[in-house]
Amino acid sequence: MKLLVTGGAGFIGSAVVRQAVAKGHEVVNLDALTYAANVENVASVSTSNLYSFEQADIRDRVRLDEIFALHRPDAVMHLAAESHVDRSIDGPGDFILTNINGTFNMLEAARGYWTRAGKPAGFRFHHISTDEVFGSLGDTGQFTEETPYDPRSPYSASKAASDHLVRAWAETYGLPVVLTNCSNNYGPFHFPEKLVPVVILNALHGRPIPVYGAGLNVRDWLYVEDHADALLTVVAKGELGRSYNIGGENEARNIDLVRLICRLMDEMHPAGAPHDRLITFVTDRPGHDARYAIDPARIRAELGWRPSVTLEEGMRRTVRWYLDNEAWWRPLLDRQGVGQRLGTKA
Ligand SMILES: NC(=O)c1ccc[n+]([C@@H]2O[C@H](COP(=O)([O-])OP(=O)(O)OC[C@H]3O[C@@H](n4cnc5c(N)ncnc54)[C@H](O)[C@@H]3O)[C@@H](O)[C@H]2O)c1
Repeated sequence: MKLLVTGGAGFIGSAVVRQAVAKGHEVVNLDALTYAANVENVASVSTSNLYSFEQADIRDRVRLDEIFALHRPDAVMHLAAESHVDRSIDGPGDFILTNINGTFNMLEAARGYWTRAGKPAGFRFHHISTDEVFGSLGDTGQFTEETPYDPRSPYSASKAASDHLVRAWAETYGLPVVLTNCSNNYGPFHFPEKLVPVVILNALHGRPIPVYGAGLNVRDWLYVEDHADALLTVVAKGELGRSYNIGGENEARNIDLVRLICRLMDEMHPAGAPHDRLITFVTDRPGHDARYAIDPARIRAELGWRPSVTLEEGMRRTVRWYLDNEAWWRPLLDRQGVGQRLGTKA
């Protein structure tokens, strides 16, 4: 299959690109290379004759038309997005333009290409979204694919809008789409502004480890390589027009996740004193959703997919990777906003 992957130089997109090439798919990586991108994420496949790269912005419709015409993909996996909730609080404009207008451009470019190609039955537009579109849960319950949308941050509202556009293009124009909504990812190549790499790197440097509020927010942690595997399963076998929730079956409170990372650091990089002494509680994020949890029944029953690692095992691999890959993360610490508290301008 020839896949056009948008956002393939980001965290999850690059895992998809690496796995897709390893499985023998041809991949065109379309990425604008924003602050969140890193071409090193795909260095391991960059010389493969299955791989090509197009630096392009999904806000630029003309470029998208050119890329579709040039590469003629069998399927699109659309991951390009502004993805950091804290940045969406300080500056929502980019989230509207990339996540909503950009998805509109991708849908129109895909529809034009698919129509001109005679509407091939096998074509797929796979839209990758988040469980944050469903809002916040109390102590019990899980998000199913039927849970009503209730986004609460500029980021999740922009992703919800993009999901609605994708469904509308399927209903109105018959565009063959599949959608996925996943929980929080973690793993190698995670940009060092997100919780897990911040905790690992601050622990490594003996710096305070910031935990928002009391650290009681619950997330369902999904190992990024498992997520990439699920996405490649859905794009190949997902039922047209259907959405699939993807979770890690690994619910944890933020404070317990941070303590787990500190314990793994004590074991893998002892510092003479326990790393959890560095935990520092800081002012909570405005509108911080209390709990997300995924009901994974549909993808398990219909596509036979389940995550392969526990949180402990996935986090062990992740900590090991950061300890072994300073040359990857060191230059990223100088990028704009990294290491600063963002999302306080509400
Ligand atoms: N990280 C998570 O835990 C998580 C959870 C649920 C859903 N998602 C979704 O998965 C997708 C990928 O997330 P991620 O964590 O890999 O994000 P990321 O921020 O690491 O990567 C996003 C990539 O998109 C590219 N991009 C941004 N704006 C662009 C534009 N205008 N044109 C072209 N490329 C552009 C960036 O350069 C970057 O390479 C996003 O759609 C996100 O909403 C992420």
